[in-house]
Amino acid sequence: MKMYNFNSGPAVLPAEVLQQASEAIIDFNNIGLSILEIGHRTEWFINVLEEARSLVKELMQLDDSYEVLYLQGGATMQFMQVPMNLLDENETAAYCDNGIWGSKAIKEAKLFGQVHIACSSKDQGHTYIPRELSVPQHARYLHYTTNNTVEGTQWHFIPEANVPLVADMSSDIFSREMPFSKYALIYAGAQKNAGAAGTTIVVIKKDILGKVNRTIPSILNYSNHIEAKSLLNTPPVFAVYVSLLTLRWIKQEGGLAEMERRAQERADLFYHTLDTLDAFTGKVDKRDRSLMNATFTTQNPGHEKLFLDICKEHGMVGVKGHRSVGGLRVSMYNSLPLSSVQALCDVMKDFNEKRG
Ligand SMILES: Cc1ncc(COP(=O)(O)O)c(C=O)c1O
Repeated sequence: MKMYNFNSGPAVLPAEVLQQASEAIIDFNNIGLSILEIGHRTEWFINVLEEARSLVKELMQLDDSYEVLYLQGGATMQFMQVPMNLLDENETAAYCDNGIWGSKAIKEAKLFGQVHIACSSKDQGHTYIPRELSVPQHARYLHYTTNNTVEGTQWHFIPEANVPLVADMSSDIFSREMPFSKYALIYAGAQKNAGAAGTTIVVIKKDILGKVNRTIPSILNYSNHIEAKSLLNTPPVFAVYVSLLTLRWIKQEGGLAEMERRAQERADLFYHTLDTLDAFTGKVDKRDRSLMNATFTTQNPGHEKLFLDICKEHGMVGVKGHRSVGGLRVSMYNSLPLSSVQALCDVMKDFNEKRG
């Protein structure tokens, strides 16, 4: 039986993608080789990589002043690669401190230059998105996490700043239409909305590079990756292929407008149910609720484990909150069917009737 997958990442993937990926493991495009066996500099793989890179640009409606890279090291590596490439020791970068991942990015940036905290929601356990920001005019860039996977908040507006914008979009990339050309750099681990684990998408406006004085190790230098068309060394071939299949699926289903419509529909159903049941409470400000990761608790703390056990009995995985914050969390990424949310809501209603 296929489970209801509310995992936060690696996460649910479209059935078609899994089918195509599994076929390619046996025989890629009927060439008589597995996708796992082909050389990364063959025309076969170069076509995969180029199509994936150009689909990212197409979905984001970006022009040729941007370059798309498929890198390794996860979004976590971007926490240091961004400041290493964009920030000199005596310069300042502004960072929004809105959750566990943003805090990690701040910690790494401090190794390379000065960090100015533009806003923080720490005072209330990162349960809201601040409206007031202070960004020094001389800041090299402003970094923020568009969706806080762990805490369950999401920026539903773009922060105002007269400096280049850098965003960690790991948990809401390709889930909504956005003016992506407002950003100088966007990064996201592929394992939530853009494929399987093992690769990170980095989108860079080329003119922000080449301005720091430090010597950057070759493998960490964005310019080298751009020059090598994302083939500086052996890329994670299979992960890039799964990302391509996922991007094709997004496009075929109707693109970002359709992903956004589905995300809203799922979130409306879930949050409406949550708000009508006494047995559960949401954890964050309603206006800042994430459409991707919903965090909540049982009203009676003693009921949490019981609820998780019931979810398990119904074949639902990924309902437990992140280990750092506890509570409950369900992730509702692009390919999660509305019927999965409906099934969860039914379990919650039943739980409420019996124990609310
Ligand atoms: C917003 C955000 N940033 C960064 C990360 C870290 O990603 P990775 O494990 O690919 O390094 C995650 C992981 O869940 C995330 O949700």
